[in-house]
Amino acid sequence: MAQTSPTPEPIGMLTSTRKAEHLRINLEEDVDAKGVRTGFECYRFMHCALPEVDLADVSTATEVLGWQLASPLFISCMTGGTETAHRINCVLAETAEELGIALGLGSARVLLERPEALPSFAIRGLAPSVPVFANLGAVQLNRGVTAGDCGRLVDMLGANALVLHLNALQEALQPEGDTCFAGLLERIETVVAQLDVPVVVKEVGWGIAPDLVTALLEAGVAAVDVAGAGGTSWSEVERHRLGGGPAARTAAAFAGWGIPTAVALTQARAAAPDGVIFASGGVRSGLDVAIAAALGADLVGVAGPFLRAAAKGTEACADLGREWMDVLRIAMFCTGSADLASLRAGARLVRDDGGPVPGGADGVTLVASLIEAISDLRGTQVTRTAARG
Ligand SMILES: Cc1cc2nc3c(=O)[nH]c(=O)nc-3n(C[C@H](O)[C@H](O)[C@H](O)COP(=O)(O)O)c2cc1C
Repeated sequence: MAQTSPTPEPIGMLTSTRKAEHLRINLEEDVDAKGVRTGFECYRFMHCALPEVDLADVSTATEVLGWQLASPLFISCMTGGTETAHRINCVLAETAEELGIALGLGSARVLLERPEALPSFAIRGLAPSVPVFANLGAVQLNRGVTAGDCGRLVDMLGANALVLHLNALQEALQPEGDTCFAGLLERIETVVAQLDVPVVVKEVGWGIAPDLVTALLEAGVAAVDVAGAGGTSWSEVERHRLGGGPAARTAAAFAGWGIPTAVALTQARAAAPDGVIFASGGVRSGLDVAIAAALGADLVGVAGPFLRAAAKGTEACADLGREWMDVLRIAMFCTGSADLASLRAGARLVRDDGGPVPGGADGVTLVASLIEAISDLRGTQVTRTAARG
């Protein structure tokens, strides 16, 4: 482990070592959240026996922030800075290009410390036609990283956007973590004002509450990725890094922490009906992608499953993405949704627990309006399973 090295590693090497450990742990250990689920499992689609659309005419294509994409599915930010990371990034880039989906790169902090790490991120040539996101921990803005540095990173990587991640809990659990989060919103606002690419803010798997979603969008952030709980747990990743003892037990206490992704997404969408909202964290199937899109996600990000597929090579990785895109397309067909706007506006989700189902142009459809809809099913596909709640 980095923190027990007999001789201190130089800055930059420490970051690379940490990224290498993160890759290994994510590939070899159980890093799933425990005691919290995404909430996607609470939803199912109301099947439409007569879709009145041809499958060949169903399109999963979307335009987000001016980018034309084949699907709302995207590969969330993961890695860079090591030789293994370079191999993974190449596979992810080939996959994104083949499928026509967006690709996030891992934190480029190491590039500020060790510019010679650039080749591990240099995948632009492999993914020339899809949006590529540069990534940095927002807390670095409190550690001397300037808007100018952010702009240089974006240029170096040929990126179409900068994604700033919020990972307060992860930093708090790392012995070497940066926990100076005070005043960050203002610094994010400065970066937004000075960069000429869109700035996206994401969590790393604990969710972003609706009041912060609103504040970030008001600060000029182009999109917020709620990155909620139920998938990869970074407290679990750090617990594995820590080995045993009190620090590992402290990390273990947070295995169930965070806002479930579906909850964070529905609350964000209700708080910002017209904002650009991405969802990620625990998306584990094509149906999860479809549910997230129906709940109002403009893009739906996946990290862990793409990492594990990428470790097997480009064919396995592209197969995974293709499979999930097909599931989304068929789910759209079987809900009579010719496009994503119709999937979202059609409110064809049902909930097993009788809770409110978001949908419709105004964001949230409450139980009362659903019950009303059930009583008048003639003109709509909207309903829910027996109101057990
Ligand atoms: C190996 C690995 C490395 C990651 N590194 C970063 C990173 O550098 N920056 C970031 O914003 N998120 C990073 N993440 C977090 C993911 O982008 C995502 O928010 C989180 O893993 C939850 O998604 P999942 O459940 O699909 O894995 C990483 C995830 C993995 C699996």
